[in-house]
Amino acid sequence: MARQAPTLEENHTPPPPRHFAIIMDGNGRWAKKRLLNRSKGHRQGAEAVREAVKGAVNTGVEYLTLYAFSSENWNRPADEVKDLMGLLKIYLSKEMKSLAKEGVRVKIIGCRDRLSPEIISKIDEAEKQDIPNIRLTLIIALSYGSREEIVAAARKLAGEAVAGTLSLDDISENAMDNALYTHDVPDPDLIIRTSGEQRLSNFLLWQAAYSEFLFIDTLWPDFTKKHFSDAVDQYLGLDRRYGIR
Ligand code: FPP
Repeated sequence: MARQAPTLEENHTPPPPRHFAIIMDGNGRWAKKRLLNRSKGHRQGAEAVREAVKGAVNTGVEYLTLYAFSSENWNRPADEVKDLMGLLKIYLSKEMKSLAKEGVRVKIIGCRDRLSPEIISKIDEAEKQDIPNIRLTLIIALSYGSREEIVAAARKLAGEAVAGTLSLDDISENAMDNALYTHDVPDPDLIIRTSGEQRLSNFLLWQAAYSEFLFIDTLWPDFTKKHFSDAVDQYLGLDRRYGIR
């Protein structure tokens, strides 16, 4: 599903965006500027998540992927890891009913090996919620690393080849797409990174092949639904070419 044949309008206006992904950066700097501890920055960052979700629902973007915790983030001080996991647990417990009411379904991508059984059961519950009219799929990248995801996909295909259920000729871009966590999600149209940094940091490397990028100076805790709708406007002003012309 991830790979779409590009459809380009005569006037080069891109079709409405379906998928935005955000690298939420700057929680620590936001807190430091206010002489607060980092955990306050992350807490305010969780508020900004609510804003981004509203922004996506209001603008009709169908998929929103948020980079909440990378595989590298496990190397942060134990207190900070505990804090972030605590916030995610609260979000997955308390927010689900109101998200469901808004037509937001939740999907988590990432490696579950290091997640606590408690978080895993919250994820299972969140993903099982029945959403009759889906307006937005909110994808939370948790314990996520893109290289790890690609390696796991390659291992899956290699396993099938060894077992004789997949021929070498069937190892294609489509087969890789289908072996990724995002197999049922279109590629991101736009990837936003906040806080002035300009890196992908091991986020959606495969899926970003044709994504547009928007780097903004705003620190993540200050991100609002207006930033989101501005990003949609900027995206609609782009001329996407996909290497075709
Ligand atoms: C980067 O800022 C942010 C993170 C590593 C965590 C993102 C998490 C949240 C926004 C909170 C909870 C998320 C959800 C989905 C409820 P940083 O700490 O690296 O900031 P710095 O670069 O300024 O130090």
